[in-house]
Amino acid sequence: MIYFKTIRWKNFLSYGNHWTEIELDANKSSLIIGENGAGKSTVLDALTFVLYNKPFRKVTVQQLINSINNNHMEVECEFAIGQNNYKICRGQKPRIFEVWQNGNLLNQEAHAKDYQEVLEKQILKLNHKSFCQVVVLGSSSFIPFMQLPTNHRKEVIEDLLDIGIFSIMGSLLKDKASENRKRLGETSNEIMLLEERIKMQQDYVKRITQQKDDLIEEKKKSIEKLTNDNGIIELNLKDKEDELAKLRKEVEEEEAVRKKLNKLNTLDSKISDKVKRLKKEIEFFESHDNCPKCYRPLDAETKAHNIENNKDSIKECEEGFEKLEDEINAEQARVNHMMEVWKTIDKVNTAINTYKSEINANQSVIDSMQKDIDKETTQDVNVEKVKIKEMNEDMIEIQNVKKDQSDEQEIITVATNLLRDTGIKSRIIKQYIPVINKLVNKYLAAMDFFVQFDLDENFNEVIKSRWRDEFNYHSFSEGEKMRIDLSLLFTWRAIAKLKNSASTNLLIMDEVFDSSLDTQGTDEFLKIINDLTADSNIFIISHKTDQLVDKFNSVIRFEKHQNFSRVAA
Ligand SMILES: Nc1ncnc2c1ncn2[C@@H]1O[C@H](COP(=O)(O)OP(=O)(O)OP(=O)(O)O)[C@@H](O)[C@H]1O
Ligand SMILES: [Mg+2]
Repeated sequence: MIYFKTIRWKNFLSYGNHWTEIELDANKSSLIIGENGAGKSTVLDALTFVLYNKPFRKVTVQQLINSINNNHMEVECEFAIGQNNYKICRGQKPRIFEVWQNGNLLNQEAHAKDYQEVLEKQILKLNHKSFCQVVVLGSSSFIPFMQLPTNHRKEVIEDLLDIGIFSIMGSLLKDKASENRKRLGETSNEIMLLEERIKMQQDYVKRITQQKDDLIEEKKKSIEKLTNDNGIIELNLKDKEDELAKLRKEVEEEEAVRKKLNKLNTLDSKISDKVKRLKKEIEFFESHDNCPKCYRPLDAETKAHNIENNKDSIKECEEGFEKLEDEINAEQARVNHMMEVWKTIDKVNTAINTYKSEINANQSVIDSMQKDIDKETTQDVNVEKVKIKEMNEDMIEIQNVKKDQSDEQEIITVATNLLRDTGIKSRIIKQYIPVINKLVNKYLAAMDFFVQFDLDENFNEVIKSRWRDEFNYHSFSEGEKMRIDLSLLFTWRAIAKLKNSASTNLLIMDEVFDSSLDTQGTDEFLKIINDLTADSNIFIISHKTDQLVDKFNSVIRFEKHQNFSRVAA
């Protein structure tokens, strides 16, 4: 509930550069009187201007500035909502717009339009149209509910029933739905891309695994072949080594044989020398007659004897010599054979070395291939597999996100349906329509206007008169219309109070009944006013001074003094 306390203004319309202040909560009912143009209706302009930046009459904001002073136009209004006290200051020349909450100026950084929206939507929670339906009513610009087009009737009722929030929620939800749909689409795309990436990675892993297996298989085959080759070479090597061992045995006695041959040769040359010497001696004896050593004369017998001796010795030597030759030849043959064996040994050694180096070469190829295999086996495809695992985990996460978004979308759809005009709002309105009708009819009856008023869910009225058929609002006379308007006004206020939504303590009526209500109607109206005044502060602007003056708690008189309006003392 908005509890209005004071309103004050200066340089506003016909008012000059002094504050004019009205205490709004001082009296239950106040009558505002004064000559034409005294400045009574100004109270309504001051209120709508300060709260909504809109004059009540059909002029521009600029036209509200007092034309004589033409500057420093300012209006201030104080009110309370719940525990909070507010003061709104608005002016022109210079332009002012301040919202004070409990003595603190609310952040003014925002754009003036947004600031106004904060004031209307978050603080007052009452829009201009509704304000002019239930708080301030003027004879000139007050459009009775029944004269409003259906969409405006809807706005007023939604405001009163405090269900305008569902429209706001609905439009917020619409934005949210489209945002969520967009995100859902993005998530689906992300999932598609990720699926693609997972498939590609799986193919890649399959391919490299196959390549690796092929490579290992190939290397294993090569190793097997080389191992077989080495087996054969080793057999050959073994043969050669056996052969070598045998050959080595054959030359084992070489030194001994060579020594023996040397000895035999030495002996041979000794014998040969001896034979030569013996033959020389024979030659000598045969051609000389003295001793070759002592040169004494030799006799023939001695000579013959010596020659014979020598010849025997030669014969002996020659016999031994033959034997020796045989022996030398035999040993020489052995040596020669051994030389041949050495040659074979060399060849066998070469073969052995060739085999060994072949084996080594093969082995090093085997080793390096084995290394390659080991490397391939340890260099894991797992790194790539882990990537798949990670992507699958991401996938679960994204799918969860998608599920959340889908769930949210479903909720939004349900909520959107609920928030449609046909949803919650229509249910609430449906509940209130009988209450509204009951109240309207109650107020109509209180003003002795006996018709059956029925507002339907689309806010169209059917009014049945006691003795006539169905009527609509426009069928009635001005006075009757005014009774219907007032009944609706009081109904809205009653509903607002019931809902504690657009409820205020203030009601200002500017000549709303002066022209249309007859004496009886005026009395009934005042009766209703008195019923209402229980917890309201009502201001009635009227020219029917005589009829009304003693029926109000207070009377405020406005007057013009030296071209400026003021409250008369
Ligand atoms: N910008 C302005 N500067 C000065 N005076 C202005 C300005 N605009 C309007 N006025 C005058 O201010 C007065 C407005 O008074 P207001 O409408 O409040 O009178 P009222 O007491 O309600 O009269 P009525 O009984 O005729 O409705 C009028 O005399 C009008 O001519
Ligand atoms: Mg007026």
